Amino acid sequence: MNNNDIIIRRENENDYREVENLAREAFWNQNCEGCHEHLFIHKMRSHPDFIPELDFIAELDGKIVGAVMYCKAKLADEKGCEKDIVTMGPLCVLPEYQRRGIGKALLEHTFGLAGDMGYDVVINFGNPDNYVARGYKSCKKYNVCFEGDIFPAALLVKELNSGALDGRKWFYHPSDVDAPIDTDSQEFLEFDALFPHKEKRWKPSQEEFYIHSHSAITW
Ligand SMILES: CC(C)(COP(=O)(O)OP(=O)(O)OC[C@H]1O[C@@H](n2cnc3c(N)ncnc32)[C@H](O)[C@@H]1OP(=O)(O)O)[C@@H](O)C(=O)NCCC(=O)NCCS
Repeated sequence: MNNNDIIIRRENENDYREVENLAREAFWNQNCEGCHEHLFIHKMRSHPDFIPELDFIAELDGKIVGAVMYCKAKLADEKGCEKDIVTMGPLCVLPEYQRRGIGKALLEHTFGLAGDMGYDVVINFGNPDNYVARGYKSCKKYNVCFEGDIFPAALLVKELNSGALDGRKWFYHPSDVDAPIDTDSQEFLEFDALFPHKEKRWKPSQEEFYIHSHSAITW
């Protein structure tokens, strides 16, 4: 595969089901048995915090092989002063196309656009392995936390403009689009049934995800 052949373009309505299936293929059995990201994407696109201008896919030979989406979020300091930022995610690449620079290309393209739109901070919750090479740092280094002074190990922060975060403490307020999805709900089961059958099984990455998502930095 020559990376010059990859086309990065905005997602449109005709892509929706293919992108949802891509997310399902990428996340299936990754963080838990099965996954919920295809329904998350489906619901996210109609949420007021969704940012269509940053909704991009990567295409290779007419096939969608990667996708990234963003939504609006806020940081608030201890005096209640608020700052508009973006949350990145999901980011996903079809398993057979992973580790060839497609995720990197999607991030770099959309970081540039987010900066042009006036955003100077991107946050996401994820496995640091996937993001530190893109300039993300631990939330602790930027003094960004959840209410209760919790600095999750998986809360990753990237400044699009160096110095955008000035060291004061910021509380991260994600969009409510980030609410958990109940994979036993009728809504989920009906939506998932629209896609090809896939076997649920345990994978070591699920334990890795548990460790990352339940850890906090305390010193
Ligand atoms: C995570 C994901 C989007 C990365 O996309 P990708 O196209 O495979 O990543 P890239 O090839 O662009 O690699 C980006 C960087 O991450 C690193 N990387 C990618 N996958 C990695 C892995 N499994 N372990 C360690 N490092 C990894 C690469 O070394 C690369 O660093 P570099 O630029 O210094 O070389 C993709 O693997 C995926 O869809 N995974 C399943 C879904 C998922 O977990 N999404 C992220 C949610 S947190």
